[in-house]
Amino acid sequence: MRHRDRTDEPHDDYSAFRRAVQFDLAQDINAGFVSAYFRSFATPDSARVLMASGAMQSDPLKRATDTGVVIYELIANGFDHPRSMQMLELLRRVHKGLPVTADDYRYVLLSMLIVPYRWCARYGIRPWTTEETAQGVAFFTELGDRIGIDRLPPTMTAMEAFFDQYETDTVRPSPDSHTLVLASLDVFRFQLTGPMRLLRFLAPQLLSATVEDPRICHALGIPPAARWTRALLHTSAGARRAVNRITGPRRRLFFTPGAPVGAYPHGYRPSDVGPERTKL
Ligand code: HEM
Repeated sequence: MRHRDRTDEPHDDYSAFRRAVQFDLAQDINAGFVSAYFRSFATPDSARVLMASGAMQSDPLKRATDTGVVIYELIANGFDHPRSMQMLELLRRVHKGLPVTADDYRYVLLSMLIVPYRWCARYGIRPWTTEETAQGVAFFTELGDRIGIDRLPPTMTAMEAFFDQYETDTVRPSPDSHTLVLASLDVFRFQLTGPMRLLRFLAPQLLSATVEDPRICHALGIPPAARWTRALLHTSAGARRAVNRITGPRRRLFFTPGAPVGAYPHGYRPSDVGPERTKL
């Protein structure tokens, strides 16, 4: 098990961002990834494409686990690792020829940066530092380059402006979006661990609080976030900040490539990742 003081890390320019994802802000960034995943259902065009593929309905836990695994593998190992080459190849293959626009891809890619970034500012142990932010921007820009998503805005501010404008232009309610949410709700329940496990029966309400934005909740067909669930998130953030001040940052790696996760209780090989018909 790698600890934060070990040095067996990839030699690249993302060490501060990687440390935030794996240690210092691990739980908060993970919550942001979960929120970003649901957010991507909120535009009717993307929802239609996801529905047509059927993967979210047939095996929602594997679909969600795979999405997380691919991003975490890339962050943990860096882009030049052989496992990352396989992940990048999978991303190129599964998206080849999908009837979506370049902006749809830019939006989904940027959601994995901006949603966790905003989550940490609001509910996290702390906001991202300037260095973590710059490296996060550079990491997702390089990911875009490697899978053919070009002309991303150059700074976090410009990325946020693009992201917000895209949502204003495209987020609308659709039956497909709602169906995708219903299919994936169990995945969200599964994410509620530790003391939050007791609240699994409140998954729809907590999902609304996680998504937060009333426009997105409306598009997904879930109730707007209630005041009490938002208060719960704020209280939990305050408690975690207090604990963190006493215990210091996390010392165990959050994500270990190949280790048990989500749909893979006994661990996985890179070849397990991906939809059946386009396996690695
Ligand atoms: C650039 C950002 C994106 C990333 C990082 C990403 C990530 C992924 C990953 C990891 C998979 C494999 C999932 C699996 O193993 O089952 C996948 C599959 C897929 N993605 Fe994306 N995706 C992105 C953008 C999009 C967009 C904009 C759409 C449009 C709706 C889309 C639609 C799909 C479809 C249809 C599949 C294959 C079938 C399925 O699993 O539903 N993706 N994506």
